[in-house]
Amino acid sequence: MPVRHFLTLMDLSPAELETLIRRAIELKQKHYDGEIFEPLRNKTLAMVFEKSSTRTRVSFEAGMAQLGGHAMFLSPRDTQLGRGEPLEDTARVLSRMADCVIIRTYEHDKIERFAFESRVPVINALTDLYHPCQLLADVQTFVEHRGEVRGATVTYIGDGNNMCHSYINAARQFDFNLRLGCPQDYAPDADILAAAGERVQLFHDPMEAAQGAHWIATDVWASMGQEEEQAKRREAFQDFQVNEEMLAVADSEALFMHCLPAHRGEEVSAGVMDSAQSVVWDEAENRLHAQKALLEFLLS
Ligand code: CP
Ligand code: NVA
Repeated sequence: MPVRHFLTLMDLSPAELETLIRRAIELKQKHYDGEIFEPLRNKTLAMVFEKSSTRTRVSFEAGMAQLGGHAMFLSPRDTQLGRGEPLEDTARVLSRMADCVIIRTYEHDKIERFAFESRVPVINALTDLYHPCQLLADVQTFVEHRGEVRGATVTYIGDGNNMCHSYINAARQFDFNLRLGCPQDYAPDADILAAAGERVQLFHDPMEAAQGAHWIATDVWASMGQEEEQAKRREAFQDFQVNEEMLAVADSEALFMHCLPAHRGEEVSAGVMDSAQSVVWDEAENRLHAQKALLEFLLS
């Protein structure tokens, strides 16, 4: 059987994704019940991070330990990757030692090249193009709070970035309607958007995008690697803050999500971030449970 990877949400079928979300909720309950569940005993996870991380790193490392396995953190600063060893060679070596590899990097084609050479599953821990693991946690969070995501109206406000692209793929795979509110010059990739068809609509007026939303998400205005564009972006995105005024045009029970880290006063007001409608801490926690379900799916 060819090895399965998780580079984007399109790598799993809608049925597999639905099962995975249900499993994440079950694993969360097992964890709360204090049940020892170690299907990944003696398995190892190599974690390659070329960008900073708090949630992704800790959730994968904690999750792997809880499942009975072991995770190792590899930074380019202290591996040969940082001294120019070819990515393909690193893939060949790591995948003969570890049972699974997660990678956080810049260009998406790097993770594709790595996966092509890998004998074991490769998981996208964020690239410039996608952040699929985050969407597993986000969907789990919505399902826990509202029961069902199919047919819901979801709004994503902000940059047409990796999070935006994964929201577009999630709309396809989990069958919800997505309204994007992005500045003209910061729209998502045209091909990714076109592939989603009519269930995804792009607006340049954020208030219009937020109309009737059951779930509003946003992300930072400047992603990792775009630090120099910060001032320019702050200007371009100034009307794209998720705030109380915007929540007022959404559904009265709309949930607010943010992959974090967040900047109160920029992409989200402090009031919304810390409101009763904000589920960002559940969302962050669910990275752990959703990725445990993913590791179990790919490795056992
Ligand atoms: N949301 C997310 O991926 O967070 P980290 O960058 O802290 O991993
Ligand atoms: N778009 C952000 C997400 C961080 C989790 C970034 O790529 O930096």
